[in-house]
Amino acid sequence: MESDQKDITNLILEAKKEARRHIVSVEPEFSQKVKWPVTCTVGPGLEGAIACESAIGYVNGSQGCLIYRGYDVFDLCAYSNYEEVSYLLLFGHLPTESQLDEYKKKLVKFRFIPNTLRRLMGGPIDEMMPMAVLRLGTEFLRYRLTWRDSEFARLGPEDGLAADEDSIPMETMPTGEEHAIYEFPYERLVRPAGVSKRDDALSMDSCMHLISGLATITAAIMRLRDDKMPVEPSSELSHAGNLLYMMTGVKPDPVSERIMDVALILHADHGMNASTFASMVVASTMSDIYLSVGSGIAALSGALHGGANELVIKAIKEIAADDNVESWYERQKARKRKIPGFGHRVYKTYDPRARVLGPLAKYMAKTRKGTVPLMAVAERLEKIVVADLGKKKKIFPNVDFYSGLVYNALGIPDDMFTPLFAVSRVAGWTARVHEYLKKNRIFRPRSTYIGAFEKEYMPIERRAKKMPRKKKK
Ligand code: COA
Repeated sequence: MESDQKDITNLILEAKKEARRHIVSVEPEFSQKVKWPVTCTVGPGLEGAIACESAIGYVNGSQGCLIYRGYDVFDLCAYSNYEEVSYLLLFGHLPTESQLDEYKKKLVKFRFIPNTLRRLMGGPIDEMMPMAVLRLGTEFLRYRLTWRDSEFARLGPEDGLAADEDSIPMETMPTGEEHAIYEFPYERLVRPAGVSKRDDALSMDSCMHLISGLATITAAIMRLRDDKMPVEPSSELSHAGNLLYMMTGVKPDPVSERIMDVALILHADHGMNASTFASMVVASTMSDIYLSVGSGIAALSGALHGGANELVIKAIKEIAADDNVESWYERQKARKRKIPGFGHRVYKTYDPRARVLGPLAKYMAKTRKGTVPLMAVAERLEKIVVADLGKKKKIFPNVDFYSGLVYNALGIPDDMFTPLFAVSRVAGWTARVHEYLKKNRIFRPRSTYIGAFEKEYMPIERRAKKMPRKKKK
């Protein structure tokens, strides 16, 4: 068993070595302090836009680097665990032994959410997609009246340091003002110690509540969809071990637990991706962390974001069932379809997360023979796509290409892959929301108006007559 752990660590360190071999320059891009207003080239969908500064995570897409709070993600996968990594993201430093002890105790306490599960079980879980149920469950986590809901905590105009955002002319140019247009002192948002036992819906405790709560809810969704009762969390197991235990009802073997732990670390944070941005946008309006995380879950559910891993395994199963990889790929190309699990908005080289998950998926295939045919298809597909599009279009496997195979080997059904992604990413969402709120400025980009001007209002009775006629072919 110990040798398995060493094997896994070595595979991760090998992946790190391989990644380092491809780094042309270690000069970090986009790592300087911003002088507002900033000039940058922006594409549609805010591509290239710099919206804030952050000390939480760094992604270098051209070099294939991913860093959390200064630590290389390869090292965190090799030596750390999800508890430590989520602490690192939230608090900014690795914990001491006693800090980690206390943090773990809180995480364990928050695993037990019977009232939330009871509420969730009353809903139409079978008829909803798992991500929608997860979002609902996240809102149920906040079912009590929280500190933020109380009259005492409600923000009033007298608390504002400045004016309402919409009270200024809309289309002004940025002046470089660093403070929020509608701003409150940060301390005003956090429940003062001893005022009430109620949760303040923003504190670090709320973040931990969400980190543990999303794991329990996800495991319960998986079981309820399979007509099984949720499993009571274990206080003894690690975050990853308990997650697998709550999903399967069986205490996981050390290899499964470690691999799940690595997968959780790898998905914990990733720059200003769509779901992180969605959480931050909601939080920036002075909403709260539960509702912000709910928005992150909604954004993550899309096929272009977290939903891709499910599409990957679907494609791999389809190829394995009755096809050969080459002809399947040619057909996709002919139909101009994108290959799920390849390409990335930021990485224009191998995604470092795929570098770790690929070897781990292969490692698992050694003992879980059922996954061998799928693994063979994945490896062949990777070779073909990289040979065709690697140099030409900088298309390489992304995190989703191998994560599905890893989850599959762990016995997790395909439609639970994206909720698992959320179980991990909640650490990044909450950490970034917290960081942003310390210097909050409501998100407010603008669009250019390309519609008409000076149209004359037409009473309804006259409109039909004026409807443009369809041209005859
Ligand atoms: N398969 C085949 N070709 C792909 C591709 C893929 N997965 N991803 C991108 N390309 C091609 C595009 O067709 C385009 O070719 P063109 O220049 O000839 O038109 C070129 O590469 C650039 O594509 P574009 O969509 O502009 O890249 P992007 O950076 O905006 O998009 C993704 C990134 C992730 C949305 C895109 O790669 C994709 O849809 N991948 C599949 C879904 C997926 O795995 N998502 C998870 C991401 S973690």
